[in-house]
Amino acid sequence: MSLIEVKHLRKEFPNSTPLKDVNASIERGEVISIIGPSGTGKSTFLRCLNRLETPTSGEIWVDGVNMCDPATDLSRMRRKMGMVFQSFNLFGHKLVAENVMMAPMDLLGMGKQEAYEEALRLLDRVGLKKQALRLPSELSGGQRQRVAIARALAMHPEVILFDEPTSALDPSMVSEVLSVMKELASEGLTMLVVTHEMRFARDVSTRVFYMDQGEVYEAGPPEQIFEHPERQRTHDFIFRVRSWTWTIDSLDFDYPQMMGSLSDFCARQFLGRSALNSTQLVIEELVEQVIVPAARATGIDNPNIELLLRSGEEGRDIELHVDYREFLGAIDGKYPILDDPDDMTRKIITGYADIKEGAEPGLITLHLKNH
Ligand SMILES: Nc1ncnc2c1ncn2[C@@H]1O[C@H](COP(=O)(O)OP(=O)(O)O)[C@@H](O)[C@H]1O
Ligand SMILES: [Mg+2]
Repeated sequence: MSLIEVKHLRKEFPNSTPLKDVNASIERGEVISIIGPSGTGKSTFLRCLNRLETPTSGEIWVDGVNMCDPATDLSRMRRKMGMVFQSFNLFGHKLVAENVMMAPMDLLGMGKQEAYEEALRLLDRVGLKKQALRLPSELSGGQRQRVAIARALAMHPEVILFDEPTSALDPSMVSEVLSVMKELASEGLTMLVVTHEMRFARDVSTRVFYMDQGEVYEAGPPEQIFEHPERQRTHDFIFRVRSWTWTIDSLDFDYPQMMGSLSDFCARQFLGRSALNSTQLVIEELVEQVIVPAARATGIDNPNIELLLRSGEEGRDIELHVDYREFLGAIDGKYPILDDPDDMTRKIITGYADIKEGAEPGLITLHLKNH
């Protein structure tokens, strides 16, 4: 029998019905990444599984026990299901080790010394043995989230439910948390992970659930979901998350905000530092040296220039599409962008990317060179 069996799960709230008909069976040792647009009920699904929410109808079976039967001992069942949230919820006035010791002492009646030794072992597993006697406030966000993982492991759960465990973290701390999760996955822990980290979903999961329209809209191995999605909405979503778009709709647009959003995208897609650097450099040159001066020279406030960055596997084949057709339309003609071979900006950009003029004036594609 599967570890988790969900049949026709429905959850209605007064103003919305995020889950209409969710069906899933999850085997022991599986790592399921749950992806999908926000508001599609991913959190609600996890919360129904351990009965933090009461389903409107349907069935949930965990380890052969009916989670919707009023006779079921929910607190006993919840001990089998660890939960790691976006916000770590550690007790700030307790030491790191104490945070990990609490549940085994309170719920399993474990003695203090034994709980302490166990906590040290678990903290070692998440790389934080040295921080055992510190307060959570002395730790970084990534470290705190690793403590939260050790705390979940302390109950020896059958499965851990992760709800966007890296979303609240500074991008520089995401990978330390993901690498701990990857380690747990390789040790055979059953995990359900709601995540936006597509590289993690692709590399670590046994299966990916794409949630949309109140159901598990498409489920399959990562190759299917990321390379050959079978249904339209999955396809559109995957294309969207793999792309970064920005519209320059004013001459005094927020430049740092654009660059920040670009670097978040690169971190999320796990583009390496050199890919990020050359992408930034190309965009910087193009925007600052070409696009903005051109718009300024022609007196157009809203050049309406669209940038679209797409990356393929492993951050290879990075393409930047620049669409300035509206701008050309506004000045009624062809404005020379990057077509003078002696132009310094063109030379700088071609050091990092091959420039391909598009099918029509106002469209160019830059292929970033391998890094
Ligand atoms: N406790 C609640 N009360 C009322 N509506 C809720 C509650 N929790 C979630 N919702 C609604 O359910 C929908 C799905 O939410 P959620 O499960 O958080 O989506 P996701 O995690 O995919 O972003 C949203 O429209 C949200 O407003
Ligand atoms: Mg959510």
